[in-house]
Amino acid sequence: MDRLIIAGGRPLEGEIGVSGAKNAALPILCSALLSAEPLTVARVPQLRDVTTLLRLLKGMGVEVETEGDKVRLAAPNTLEPVASYDLVKTMRASILVLGPLLARFGHARVSLPGGCAIGERPVDLHLKGLQAMGAQLAVEHGYIVATAGRLQGTHIFMDTVTVTGTENLMMAATLAEGITVLENAAREPEVVDLAQCLVGMGARITGHGTDVITVKGVPALHGTAHSVMPDRIETGTFLVAAAATGGHVRVTGVRPRTLDAVLDKLREANAKVECGTDDIRLTMRGANHGVSLRTAPYPAFPTDMQAQFMAMNAVAQGTTVITETIFENRFMHVQELRRLGANIEVEGNAAIIRGVQGLDGATVMATDLRASASLVIAGLIARGETIIDRIYHLDRGYERLEHKLRELGAEVRRDHAGAIE
Ligand code: EPZ
Repeated sequence: MDRLIIAGGRPLEGEIGVSGAKNAALPILCSALLSAEPLTVARVPQLRDVTTLLRLLKGMGVEVETEGDKVRLAAPNTLEPVASYDLVKTMRASILVLGPLLARFGHARVSLPGGCAIGERPVDLHLKGLQAMGAQLAVEHGYIVATAGRLQGTHIFMDTVTVTGTENLMMAATLAEGITVLENAAREPEVVDLAQCLVGMGARITGHGTDVITVKGVPALHGTAHSVMPDRIETGTFLVAAAATGGHVRVTGVRPRTLDAVLDKLREANAKVECGTDDIRLTMRGANHGVSLRTAPYPAFPTDMQAQFMAMNAVAQGTTVITETIFENRFMHVQELRRLGANIEVEGNAAIIRGVQGLDGATVMATDLRASASLVIAGLIARGETIIDRIYHLDRGYERLEHKLRELGAEVRRDHAGAIE
């Protein structure tokens, strides 16, 4: 099982580019199911989750060709709309095939995604919305068995803001009869990127990026070519790592406006942050003040950046509080950060972080994707050597992270279960 070995205590310095956004690429790849014509997607990050999804799509009969960061997909009419448990259990976002399969083929059999480390993560709002559009759904032996004639447009209110729920229903609505209104829709930039791809395929969508999305169904969609937006969470992760190590970095090929809440918190932590049209430059002005924050749906502070800020706060001046309002168990990194010397108490959905002088390297274990990123940042801060086990969690969402960190001067290497790279 791969692990990362980090010699910490050095500031990150230099320039780095980011990959395409995992959380935009996944729904966009699923949208290929909506048309028999080819969809070409550029800037697809080479990640475990993407590989898993492409295996799932191929297993159904989708033609998939990859060339570097470009993927060409074509979903024939003869496709077998089944998503099996063995793949779905490893990647929850597989639920995103359900809406497109139902809309295009009128039936689907998709394994219920299990829970995961950060929370139960139900899909009830996905199912409720599809039922409102006329689908018949049953759960049989852990599978969602869905059938529908042509889906019918309708007004859907989602009582919890759900990113993939919004994406699933938006995709389903593109081929439904009539107009669908999604109220209390997710406003994340990844939802907007998916909508722009769907519009490129001939979908009639307005309101994406706001909390009311309107979709006018069309009989069929055609192919298109789309380039995935840059990954705002990877961008934020590099910026926090630079701030936490007292460094100076320039992150290129990004969309600064998708990170307003994160940049605001970095400035509050005493970083100098300057934005160009597609780059962000960060310099730590001096002591790290740390920041209290509360996660919430976009455009508020993203839950996917919470763990990274906790690592920075661990060595900040004073006491800070991080409140997690999206997932019920997204503090798995706390006990691992404590092993490195952090002083953190958890009370319900709040973590109280008392800044310490410094952290000391230790062996720690990754538990979920963003917790892994938090441990990498802590390892970069800590004196001495930090070993992070189970970094397959990290590989789900970060492409070639150790290579990119080395470009910023970090001393980090991957150990393939004993063969040190
Ligand atoms: C997406 O997950 C992202 N994943 C997550 O990123 C991200 O943390 C999350 O949105 C929140 O921003 C992808 O886009 C592939 P939700 P998603 O549905 O869609 C509850 C990462 O690190 N809920 O917005 O699964 C749910 O339990 C990953 O890249 C219901 O109750 O999250 C949660 O409390 C982790 N019923 C809240 O809504 C539903 O039917 C938000 O979940 C759906 C969700």
